[in-house]
Amino acid sequence: MNEFLVLLLAYCIGSIPTALIVSKVFFGIDIRDYGSGNMGATNTFRVLGSKYGTIVMVVDMLKGLAAVKLFLLIPYYTDPIHTTDLVNLQIGLGLSAVVGHIFPLWADFKGGKGVATLFGMVLAIQPYVALACVGVFLLVLYTTRFVSLSSILAGVAFAVFILYIFDEPQQLYRIFAVSVALLVLLTHQKNIGRLLKGNESKAGILKYRDR
Ligand code: G3P
Repeated sequence: MNEFLVLLLAYCIGSIPTALIVSKVFFGIDIRDYGSGNMGATNTFRVLGSKYGTIVMVVDMLKGLAAVKLFLLIPYYTDPIHTTDLVNLQIGLGLSAVVGHIFPLWADFKGGKGVATLFGMVLAIQPYVALACVGVFLLVLYTTRFVSLSSILAGVAFAVFILYIFDEPQQLYRIFAVSVALLVLLTHQKNIGRLLKGNESKAGILKYRDR
């Protein structure tokens, strides 16, 4: 396999519309017609409950993690002397999966916000930073009960951790970190609007509430 094919494969893996499959198979509905309209774990928790929300969260996370591991299909990258090239490819693979999740080939290009898949990729590439971001996420969730705000601040924290706390020397990681923060802000534009207006929903289960 070559780089183009593994990147394409990563995009296809990211495109697996987990929340849509779960909502269709178990409830005969399209998750995008309910709750926030987002095809992600948070909306699945909200609309279908914690069991299905957990399934979607884990699978979406695994999509990012598995995509990063696709480098194993190209022997060149398994040689430790090619570490810099490996990092480039891993970031490309992870981001392809995230793009697939946000714009899924298998679901009319109307997907989720990419948080769980981003987390999976970061867990594979920078596990300590990923865990630190989980800490930020849980702290914000515990204090505010807004999943969206928790995701946004965890994304911004990722950039801060890479740039200032872990002081990552590789330029590519630094660019990647800023891109993650910007991506999370971009995909959460509607949530930011609702947070500012004071009508964002808090963590909880609404079961089948229409958008
Ligand atoms: O990861 C998505 C979450 O941050 C927000 O989801 O459904 O509340 O828009 P939702």
